[in-house]
Amino acid sequence: MRVGADGVVTDARFDGHGCAISQASADLLIESIIGKPLEEVKKLNKESILELLGIELGPVRLKCALLSLKVLKAAVYGLHEASDSLVATFDESRVDFVEIAPVSELPNGERLFIEVGDKPIVIFNIAGQMFAIGDVCTHDDGPLGDGDLEGHHIVCPRHGAEFDVRTGKAMSMPAVVDIPAYPIQVRDGTIFVGIPK
Ligand code: FES
Repeated sequence: MRVGADGVVTDARFDGHGCAISQASADLLIESIIGKPLEEVKKLNKESILELLGIELGPVRLKCALLSLKVLKAAVYGLHEASDSLVATFDESRVDFVEIAPVSELPNGERLFIEVGDKPIVIFNIAGQMFAIGDVCTHDDGPLGDGDLEGHHIVCPRHGAEFDVRTGKAMSMPAVVDIPAYPIQVRDGTIFVGIPK
């Protein structure tokens, strides 16, 4: 989910498999939140889902229907807590670029662990492109940067959650909340990372 600087949801996507009810409620829910202020999204509840589905549901099916709402709420509150970092990913005017190291210190296929202020960050060089993410898994606060890379996905060494290093997006359970991703610039052979002002 992406939220603009004005607090309105600009994009939201869902990736997962489940029964017809859980898939339908996820699709309808995602469609309904795009263009809505985050504050309104926070107010969505069981009744909102039933209204979207437009059918009566028994207790078992209701649980399926509410799954996507549960994940959405986790994302919303995670996003709220990490909003500075996430905004920085999409709006470079709101970050200060901090000098990190010469490019020669991060060859292709390597990773660099740094700390800026109190933020642990890991920078990857994947096929000559650099990406920086927070080095803390949102599932259980484990260190993430040592995990295996599968394409642009890093796999948390503790319980296997996957995140996209290009966006910080949580791609698989058990994590449902994105991690911060930081913009990178390379100037005059030096790597800079954009840290929220
Ligand atoms: S701490 Fe990363 S998946 Fe659990």
